[in-house]
Parts: sequence; C-alpha cells; structure tokens
Amino acid sequence: MSELIEVLTKDGTYSLRSVFFQENFHSLLGALEETKSKFTATSNLQRFKEKSLNVLDICFGLGYNSASLLNEVIKQKSYLNLYALEIDKKPLKYSLRKESFLKLWVPKVRTIFESLYQKNDFEDHFFKCNILWGDAREKINIIPSSIKFDLIYLDGFSPQKCPQVWTIEFLSKVAEKLNTNGYLITYSSSAAVRKTLRNLGLEIFTIKPSFNKRTFWSQGTVAISKFDKSKLKHDLNFEKLSLMEEEHLLTKASIPYRDQDLNSSKDDIIRRRLDEQLFSNLLSTNIWREKWRMTKLSFKS
Ligand SMILES: C[S@@+](CC[C@H](N)C(=O)[O-])C[C@H]1O[C@@H](n2cnc3c(N)ncnc32)[C@H](O)[C@@H]1O
Repeated sequence: MSELIEVLTKDGTYSLRSVFFQENFHSLLGALEETKSKFTATSNLQRFKEKSLNVLDICFGLGYNSASLLNEVIKQKSYLNLYALEIDKKPLKYSLRKESFLKLWVPKVRTIFESLYQKNDFEDHFFKCNILWGDAREKINIIPSSIKFDLIYLDGFSPQKCPQVWTIEFLSKVAEKLNTNGYLITYSSSAAVRKTLRNLGLEIFTIKPSFNKRTFWSQGTVAISKFDKSKLKHDLNFEKLSLMEEEHLLTKASIPYRDQDLNSSKDDIIRRRLDEQLFSNLLSTNIWREKWRMTKLSFKS
C-alpha cells in the first residue's frame, strides 16, 4: 500500500509522496513552513505554559506536527499527553533515519520518536505519548472516552484522495473527543469538511492566509466547541469565515462524505457523494467559483 518517494520542499525540508494516495504529504512550498503556519501557530500554545494539555495527532505521517508541538512545549515546560493515529510505520522510520529532519528539533524529540517507533509509547515526568498503528477509523475507539483533547490535528490526505478520514461518521467521533474550548485544526478548507464540522455543533473559523502566499484564501480550518467569541483577538491565527467562504458552504461542494459503518472504501465514499450531489438542489459550485473569480487551481482544499 505504501510506496513512498522522498520530496525536497522549497523551504529546504524533506517530505514524502505517497504513490498509493497519489499525493504529497506536504505542500511543496515547505513541509516545516506548512506545519508551523497551519498547525503550530494556530494552536496558541502559550495558553499551556507550565500547564498540562492533551493533544491528538490524526495522520501522524513523518511526525512534523507532533515534533513541532513537542519542540514548543518542551521549551515552555508544559505537561503533554499525546495520542497519535497512523496507518503506516514507514514515514516515521524515514524520519528517524533523516538527520536533517531530526536536527530541526530539540534532541528530546528524537528520543520520543525512537520510543514511539520501537514500543509505541514514551513516558517521563513531562510527557505521556502513545501512537496507535492502524486505520484511524478503528483505532480512535481505543482512546479512553474520559480523555478530552485541547488540540486535535487532522492532517489526512485531501478529502478527494482519502475521504475515509473526512466523513461525517469519523468527524463525529473526532468531535466527541474535543474539550470545551479545544481546537480541532486542519489544513483543509473544503466546504464538505467545514459544513460537517458546523453541523456537528462546532464553531468554525478560517486560518488566516499567510502574506507571502496571497493566492490562497485560507490556510485551513479551526473548529471549536463553545468558543467565547469575545476571545477572538487579532493575535490569533484564525478568524471568522469571509462572505465568500460562507457562500461556499451553500454550494454542492458542501455535501458531506459519508461512511455509515466506518469501513467503506475510498471509491464507495466518493461515488455516494457524487450521487448525492447529482440530486441536490444546492447551488452549483461553478457558479460560486465564477462569482468570486476563483480558478480551480487557486484553491487546495
Ligand atoms: C498528509 S500525510 C500526513 C502528514 C503528517 N502529518 C506529517 O507530518 O508528515 C497523511 C498520512 O495519513 C496516513 N493515513 C492514510 N489513511 C489513514 C487512515 N485511514 N488511518 C490512519 N492514517 C492514515 C498516511 O499513511 C499518511 O502518513
């Protein structure tokens, strides 16, 4: 299933491409840059300085998101309970062999990653980390229901390539695990994903586009349960959806991915959604695209 090809991205950091999913693990603009600007900066980690936090990293891959998180929380002396879900051990094996990857972080990240690779966990005074290998749709059930996460990173391949981790049924399991005021963070700005998260009762926000990439209108989505809007400050990396983004959610693109028994194949999930789109009275996504002068290339969802 997992033939992987090494990819050098524009910020000088390495990533992988999956032949099976026909997609890169990271944006070609930069693997480290993507992790930092979409996941780490959005996490607002200063809230947890010298405090404890629970984090769930779905689709751990090479581990950029967890490594960058660990790097920051080590420096600010937070106590971290980390769970990671991943179907394939090979990307982590690759990371552990890649000195230039390991050098990006404080040395303790290597120790933790080695332990995750060899025995699926790591524990010391500050950290308790577990990685659950297998299909996230199944392994998420192993996480004790008493644990609510302050941060959930959702970094699967795009919904069109790997719809299994973007369906209503899976996202509803994920949403159940979110703490009050916890952030579910994803790079995806897909209307289907956003509408699903909103329908699950979460407040959704857009990750602000970064200045050097003006062509993209969003860097992703943050979903929060019971967010106190008075706390929506300028220094946060996310904000309310624009009118254009709200209108995107009124189009056929917002029709969700469905996987009733959480074991459907990619093709079945995609086919079901196409059928639903065909019979839907929602606005055509092309009309929305034309209205907002959007080309297909100008958005990665
Ligand atoms: C875009 S990459 C993740 C990038 C990652 N966060 C990183 O820092 O490298 C997607 C990952 O999802 C994993 N994956 C695909 N389907 C999965 C599933 N059903 N359950 C768990 N992991 C899955 C792939 O093996 C791959 O490592």
